[in-house]
Amino acid sequence: MRKKNKFVRMLIAVLSAMIFSLMVLGGRLFTNIEEDTFVSEEEDRIVVGMSQLGSESGWRTANTESVQNVFTQQNGYFLIFHNARQRQENQIKAIRSFISQRVDYIVFAPVVETGWETVLQEAKEAGIPVILMDRNVDVKDKSLYVTRVGSNFVEEGERAGRWLEDYLSRHGKDDETVNIVVLKGTQGSSSQIGRTAGFSSVAALHGNWYIMEQEYADFTSAKGKEVMESFLRKYPDIDVVVSQNDDMTFGAIEAIRESGRTVGIGGDITIISFDAVHAALEMVAEGTINVDIECNPNQGEVLSRVIGMLEDGEEVEQQYYVEEDVFTIKNVTQEVLQKRNY
Ligand code: AHR
Repeated sequence: MRKKNKFVRMLIAVLSAMIFSLMVLGGRLFTNIEEDTFVSEEEDRIVVGMSQLGSESGWRTANTESVQNVFTQQNGYFLIFHNARQRQENQIKAIRSFISQRVDYIVFAPVVETGWETVLQEAKEAGIPVILMDRNVDVKDKSLYVTRVGSNFVEEGERAGRWLEDYLSRHGKDDETVNIVVLKGTQGSSSQIGRTAGFSSVAALHGNWYIMEQEYADFTSAKGKEVMESFLRKYPDIDVVVSQNDDMTFGAIEAIRESGRTVGIGGDITIISFDAVHAALEMVAEGTINVDIECNPNQGEVLSRVIGMLEDGEEVEQQYYVEEDVFTIKNVTQEVLQKRNY
């Protein structure tokens, strides 16, 4: 795969990094891409340019660490990392910078699904394989990227719906009206689109499930609280909150408690969350969150395996799903909590 002259490419990468560093020292004159750039001066490494979409959640921090822990000098990599701070234009700039540095691979977690054709075409024409991480892109030409490593977001949404079905049935409430509100993640992101579609498909099977409102809350705790407060003002009779990530859930629970209502097992409002970070699993164990649909951020190892296969000239699949579980009070054991390091 790496057909370019190794020395020239490394020289370009090192020089670019030096220029970026000078720009930082000089007051960030032109761009902020350099802020998150880590470089190694070792030669004969696999050069990876990685564009992370932001740092909005605990899950995202774990996802970034999983990649940075794998793409190390010891493992034979030279990582150029960029944090796009939730802006697609920053990701496009970063990808163009990776192309001009002639990296071996571009790994990126797209903040939203659409709008990538032009820059991915540029990467393709430069002969640089693009690997999607976490979220997906919506492009007609699937040859614009080599593969994707991430979650099955539709399946995650369906799991939430199936858990609710089972929960209502176990409590003899299959036929009661169920009033649901949904806190959605970043508009246009794969995780928001997939989880919404998956949960809605199960909800559509139940005439007594009433989705009162769904609102974007950006996958952040502050926005989750704000949107939940507005739901609570509008709807006095919410039975279930579906919150598409743990950070929004933390904010929503705060809002619910401040309104004088209770959450979780035996509470006024049933809480369905996604991600299963450590702090949320603790809340599952104490009965505050009823169920947490896992989204696995540990994608670095799989990415590295995929790159290894490409280096060996092997065929890769178009999609690699990471393993995920569903957590309730029944299976969040001390062992699970101890192992969860994010
Ligand atoms: O795309 C994955 C989602 O993005 C995670 O559920 C969320 O926490 C993150 O911000």
